[in-house]
Amino acid sequence: MKKLLAMILALVMVFALCACGAAPAKEEANTLILGTSADYAPFEFMYPNDKGEMVYGGIDVFVAEYLAEATGKELKIENMAFDYLLAALQKGDYDIVIAAMEETEERLNAADFSDPYYTDYPAMILVKADKAEEYATLADFDGLSVAAQTGTTKLDIVNNDMAGANAVPLQNVNDMVNQLINDKIDAAVLDGGVALEFAEADDSLAIAVASDELGAAAPFCVAVQKGDPKGLLPGINEAIAKMIEEGKVEEFSAKADELSGIAVEVSAEAPEA
Ligand code: ARG
Repeated sequence: MKKLLAMILALVMVFALCACGAAPAKEEANTLILGTSADYAPFEFMYPNDKGEMVYGGIDVFVAEYLAEATGKELKIENMAFDYLLAALQKGDYDIVIAAMEETEERLNAADFSDPYYTDYPAMILVKADKAEEYATLADFDGLSVAAQTGTTKLDIVNNDMAGANAVPLQNVNDMVNQLINDKIDAAVLDGGVALEFAEADDSLAIAVASDELGAAAPFCVAVQKGDPKGLLPGINEAIAKMIEEGKVEEFSAKADELSGIAVEVSAEAPEA
C-alpha cells in the first residue's frame, strides 16, 4: 500500500514537472502577423470560401502562408489602407508587410526589404474601353483626372510622368475603379497585373494604348521593421529563394487567378486617429 502511494506520488510529480516544461510559450512568439491592403487582386483580395466566410487570398497571401510555414509560425492577416501599412509595421502592429510593395528609397527610411519575390507586368493605365485607343500617348491625359492609390509608386508615375494630368490620390483601389466606371475620373494607374484583372472582369474597362510609354516594372518585396529587430529577414530570404526555386510562385499565381473571379470588393479602413 505504501509502495503504491509512493509510486502514485512519484507519477504525480513527474506529470507536474512535464506540465511545467511544456508550458505554452507566449502565443505571439509563434505567430507571423501580416499587414496587407486587400484591394489588389490578384495579389491580395477577399473572397467567400465554401462556408461563405470571407477569407484572404491572392499571390501575396499564399507567399505569406509559405513564409509562415517555412519559419514554423502561424499566419495572422490584418487588412489596412495601403498608405498606413509601413507606419503600422514600424509601430510593431505587424511582423511583415506584403502588399505588392516595391522597395523605394523613401520606403527604406521606414522599413527593411527582403529579396524580390515577384515581378509583375509594368504599370498600366486603366480607362473606359471605348477610349482605350484614343489615349495613344501619355500627352493625351493632359488636363484629365488620373487616379492612383495614395502612397503608391503608381501615384508617382501620374505626378512625374504624365505631364498636365490632374493626379487624383484615392485610398482604395476598388473605389477608384468604381469612380472610373461612373466617369468620375478619366483613368487609373495600377500595377499591370491588377489593371488587367479589372479589365478582364468588366467589359466597359480596358488598358490604354499609352501604357506602353510607362517604364519597366519594379519587383515586389516583403517589408519588415527598420533594422529587422525581430531578426526575420534571413529566414524570409531563405524561404523566398526556396519558394522561387520550387516554382511555387507560378502555382500561387494560378491559384489566385481561379479565386479572384469570386473576389468581392472590400474596403480597408483607415486607422482611427
Ligand atoms: N506596387 C505599388 C507600390 O509599391 C502599389 C501597391 C499597392 N498595393 C495594394 N495592396 N493596394 O506602391
